[in-house]
Amino acid sequence: MSKITASKISNMKQGSEKIPVITAYDYPMAKLADEAGIPIILVGDSLGMTVLGYESTIKVTMDDMVHHTRAVARGAKQSLIVADMPFMSYGVKASQTLQNAARLFQEGGAQSVKLEGGENIINDVENIVKAGMPVMGHIGLTPQSVHRFGGYRVQGRSRKEIDQLIKDALMLEEAGAYAIVMELIPAPLAKHITELLSIPTIGIGAGPHCDGQVQVVHDILGFFDGFIPKHTKQYLRLNDLIIESIKCYMDEVKAGLFPTMLESFDMDEQILSDSNNR
Ligand code: KIV
Repeated sequence: MSKITASKISNMKQGSEKIPVITAYDYPMAKLADEAGIPIILVGDSLGMTVLGYESTIKVTMDDMVHHTRAVARGAKQSLIVADMPFMSYGVKASQTLQNAARLFQEGGAQSVKLEGGENIINDVENIVKAGMPVMGHIGLTPQSVHRFGGYRVQGRSRKEIDQLIKDALMLEEAGAYAIVMELIPAPLAKHITELLSIPTIGIGAGPHCDGQVQVVHDILGFFDGFIPKHTKQYLRLNDLIIESIKCYMDEVKAGLFPTMLESFDMDEQILSDSNNR
C-alpha cells in the first residue's frame, strides 16, 4: 500500500470515514502503529512528558522533534507522519518559522506539521502551506500556552471563547490547513465546528462528533499509573505488565534460573580442557 497523504485525509471526511490518530515518538511504536493500519501518526511534542520526563511541552526543542520524527519515519511506511512544531519554533520571524517547518520535512521525514493556535498564527500557517508543506491546526486547549491558560482546563465555555474558537477554526481552514485538532472543548461546540468546516476535525477530549480522534499512545496503552486524563481510555495496562515482567526476570536471575543452557551457547569442552592444560 502507498503512503497516506494529507489530501486523502481530507477526502475521508467527505466519505464520512472516521479518522483515528495516535502519537508515536520512536521506531518500534511507529512500526507497530503502522502495521495496525493507523492513517496518521502524530509525533507530538507531548514527547516532552511521555519520553523525556518533562512537566510540560515547553522545553521540547526543534532538535528533539527532528530526532524523534526521524525515528518514527523509519518505522512508518504507510501512515501519514505529522510532526509538532515545538514552542517558539513559530510565531517568531517568518523566515525562521519556514526553516523550522522545512527541517521537520527534510531532516525528520515528516509529511505534515502541526501548529498550535488560530488567528494569532494565521500568517505562519499560510506561509507554510504556500511553501508546499501541509499544515494541521490545533485549537482549544493548546498545551504550549499552559501558562497563559493557568492549567490544562476545558476551553470554550464562555461566549467570548466560543466566538474566538469558531473564528480560529474558520481562519485555519481559509489559510489552507487540511485538518484541525480540537483539544478539550465541550462536545456540542466541537460538533458545531465540525459541521461548519469542510476539512476534518480531530478531537481529543472534544466528544464523539469530531471527524477523527487523537490519543497519546502512552495513555491508551496504560504506560503510566497515577493520573489518567478523563478523555482517554486504557485498552491495556502496560505499566503493570512491564513491572511484573521485570520483577520475574530479576527473580529468575537472583535464583539462578535464568539463563539456562537454552539461552546459552555450548562448545566442545575438550578444546577448553586442552587450552587449560597449556
Ligand atoms: O503533542 C501531542 O501529543 C498533541 C496531541 C495531544 C494532540 O498535540
